[in-house]
Amino acid sequence: MKIGICSDHAGVEYKAKLIKKLEKQGFEVVNFGTDSHESCDYPDYAHALGRAVEEGSVDCGIAFCGTGNGMAIALNHHPKVRAGLAWNVEVGKLVKQHNNANVLVMPARFISYRMACNICKAWLEEDFLGGRHQRRIDKIPL
Ligand code: RB5
Repeated sequence: MKIGICSDHAGVEYKAKLIKKLEKQGFEVVNFGTDSHESCDYPDYAHALGRAVEEGSVDCGIAFCGTGNGMAIALNHHPKVRAGLAWNVEVGKLVKQHNNANVLVMPARFISYRMACNICKAWLEEDFLGGRHQRRIDKIPL
């Protein structure tokens, strides 16, 4: 599976560590930046990842920013992206089970790195439940 990943400056350390971890686990990871601690604008990286998900050059994505909200808001402007914000393992499972999130967004300033890894594992391992959840997803586009 090919995973795209991005962050702003707030999530750059978690991103770097998670890339190594995912690669060790055998995932192919495409890094859309940033790779700097300098203050930057999260939409620049969110849109790079969002375009890759839309084009299908990656299968899914992971994004970090401080609260997770900026990344999620920007990513969800891409019609084929369903970016779900998760701050604990249960929510990480539910964004896949109920929302079929193809991008997982996490708030680097409000969770530990260990929690980020646990959320990521849960989200990757869960399956979408379909049924009534698919009906709800189908009602999202305006
Ligand atoms: C950066 O300071 C911060 O605004 C950003 O990481 C994110 O939390 C925005 O939603």
